[in-house]
Amino acid sequence: MKISPSQVILAGMAGITNGEFAARFYDTGCLGKVTIGGYSIGKEMINAAVKSTQRGRTEFMMQLGEEADYIAHELENLTSISNTIVNVRINDPEDTKSFARELSERISSSPIIEVNAHCRQQEFVENGGGQSLIYRPEILSHVLSIFKSKDFTISLKIRGNTVDPRSFAQLVNNWGVDYLHVDSYQTGMAGTDLNLLTSFVRFSQTEVIGNNSVVDLESAEAILKTGADYFSVARAATKNNSFFCSLVKDF
Ligand SMILES: Cc1cc2nc3c(=O)[nH]c(=O)nc-3n(C[C@H](O)[C@H](O)[C@H](O)COP(=O)(O)O)c2cc1C
Repeated sequence: MKISPSQVILAGMAGITNGEFAARFYDTGCLGKVTIGGYSIGKEMINAAVKSTQRGRTEFMMQLGEEADYIAHELENLTSISNTIVNVRINDPEDTKSFARELSERISSSPIIEVNAHCRQQEFVENGGGQSLIYRPEILSHVLSIFKSKDFTISLKIRGNTVDPRSFAQLVNNWGVDYLHVDSYQTGMAGTDLNLLTSFVRFSQTEVIGNNSVVDLESAEAILKTGADYFSVARAATKNNSFFCSLVKDF
């Protein structure tokens, strides 16, 4: 199987995937999209990030109120804003309204906004952010609709093993999300759960980004063979600068 750069995405890693890091990969021409963030938006998520760093996690730290300025500045590193995904941890519709408005005022073209319903760090989850958004579908759909109302393209990132693929995919279809980004890690399984990912692909009308444990050509191909439109890579990108180009060298 020949992998096209357009199928390849750099996934977000808080404290690591800033604008400069992402641009370095995007400028190789070996990826279609890159993610910056995750960024914590609003008082509770910023406080959660502070607490998370106190126990040694890496985070992008921003002052409350400067989130849009900070992200707009990071986006200046990227040559294609429309191929840049901004991963955000957000837990509140009012914070979403201010952030979406402020970000759209500060940029001339729009990135893809990725709502993070994936993070399971307790500081975020206990404040209703990250993975707990999955269990607050009315808030999640409200947050997504606010970004949509500001004409952002939307990705929703989840852990596949936290929901029932069929019923969740139906919800996502109704929400009009543009990309469903599925981390298909499964407890006790090496690599990614390809059956789980296949279920999301089957039930989603949305384009699917498959994620977890892409470490070589074989694992990348396995994700695309599920029918996923794209695959994303996080950890392997930190170990080898030419990782993405090695995957697409035969294209
Ligand atoms: C250090 C680190 C930070 C991460 N931060 C985020 C984040 O802020 N937002 C997010 O959606 N995923 C985050 N992730 C998860 C990755 O994007 C990805 O889903 C996960 O690492 C599995 O993919 P991989 O096997 O290619 O690494 C992070 C992962 C790592 C290792």
